[in-house]
Amino acid sequence: MQRILTGDRPSGNLHIGHYFGSIKNRVKLQHDYETFIEIADVQALTDNFDNPEKVRNSVYQLVLDYLACGIDPKESNIFIQSQIPEIAELTIFFSNLITVSRLGRNPTTKAEIKQKKEKFGDNGESITYGFLGYPVSQAADIAIFNADLVPVGDDQLPHIEQYREIVRKFNSIYGETFNEAEPYLSNNTRVKGLDGNNKMSKSLGNAIYIKDTPEEVSKKVMSAVTDPNKIKKDDPANPDVCMVYYYHKLMENPNVENVCKECKKGERGCVQCKKELIEKINEFLKPMQDRRKYYEDNPELVEKIMYEGTMNARKQAKETMKQVKEKMMIKYFEDVE
Ligand code: TRP
Repeated sequence: MQRILTGDRPSGNLHIGHYFGSIKNRVKLQHDYETFIEIADVQALTDNFDNPEKVRNSVYQLVLDYLACGIDPKESNIFIQSQIPEIAELTIFFSNLITVSRLGRNPTTKAEIKQKKEKFGDNGESITYGFLGYPVSQAADIAIFNADLVPVGDDQLPHIEQYREIVRKFNSIYGETFNEAEPYLSNNTRVKGLDGNNKMSKSLGNAIYIKDTPEEVSKKVMSAVTDPNKIKKDDPANPDVCMVYYYHKLMENPNVENVCKECKKGERGCVQCKKELIEKINEFLKPMQDRRKYYEDNPELVEKIMYEGTMNARKQAKETMKQVKEKMMIKYFEDVE
C-alpha cells in the first residue's frame, strides 16, 4: 500500500478553506493509502517560540477539527511532530544538503519573510535560523515516512520541491534511501474569503470555521461581500463578483443555476440569497459538528487516538533512521540505535 504524509501547523481552528483546500482530499484518500497526518507543533514553534501555550492549546483543537472533518482514526495515524525526535535528528543531517541561499529563494518562505519585515519594521534581522530552515524540517517530515503522496494546498509546493531536491542529493551521496513523493493538489486549492479576498485566512478575519455555530455562520454570511452595484433588492447584478454566489457554488447547492439566473435578472434579493446560503452552510457543517461534539465529550478517546497515532509514526521513523545512520556511517555501537 502506498503511503501519504501530510500535516498542518497547530495555530487555531480549521476553516472551510482548509477543508476544501486539503482536508477533504485526505478524508477521501485515507481509505486507499496508509495515511500519516502530522500535527506540526515543532514547525509552529518556529513562529511561536515565545508562545508555547498557544501551540499547545491548538494541538488539541486541531485533532478535534480533523476528527470532525472525517479523518478516521481507524484509517489514519494522527501524530505529534515533537514526539518523534528522529525527525529533529534527520533535519540536522538534511541541513547540510541545502544552501542558505537556496532556502532564501523559496517563494513561500520569501513571502513570509517579507511579511515579517513589515511587521517588525526591520530588514530581516528578526528572521531566525529556525524559521529560515523550517522547510528542511518539513523535508525530514516527509522523508522519514518514505511517503509517496503529499496532499497539500498550493502554497506548500515550493517546500515539496525543496524536499525533493534534498532527498535527491541524499540519495546521490549516501546511496538510494528515499523516494521522491509527489504533491497532490485539490481542485479548490484556494477558497476565497467572505470579504472577497483571494484567500480565506485566520489572519484576514474572513473565514468560516468548521466549529462555527449557526449564529456565527449567519452573522458572517450576512456581512459577505456582494455586487457593490446592486443597491435595491430588484437591481440586476453580477454574480461573478459576489461571494454569496461563490459559496453557493462551493456548497454545491443544486439550485445554483437559478441563483445565477435570478440574480442576473434582478429577481433575487441579497438577503433571501444569503439566508439560503446560511442554511446550506449549516447543513454542510452539522455532521462535522456532531462528530466534534462526540469527541469533545470523550477526551480520553482523543488522547488514545493521539497516542496510538504517534506510536505508529515513531515506529516507522525509527526504522528509517536505522538505515540513514548506516548509510551515513554513523552507526557505532550494537546496542545504540
Ligand atoms: N507547512 C505546513 C503548513 O503550514 C505544515 C506541514 C509540516 C506539512 N510538515 C508537513 C505539510 C509535511 C505537508 C507535509 O500547513
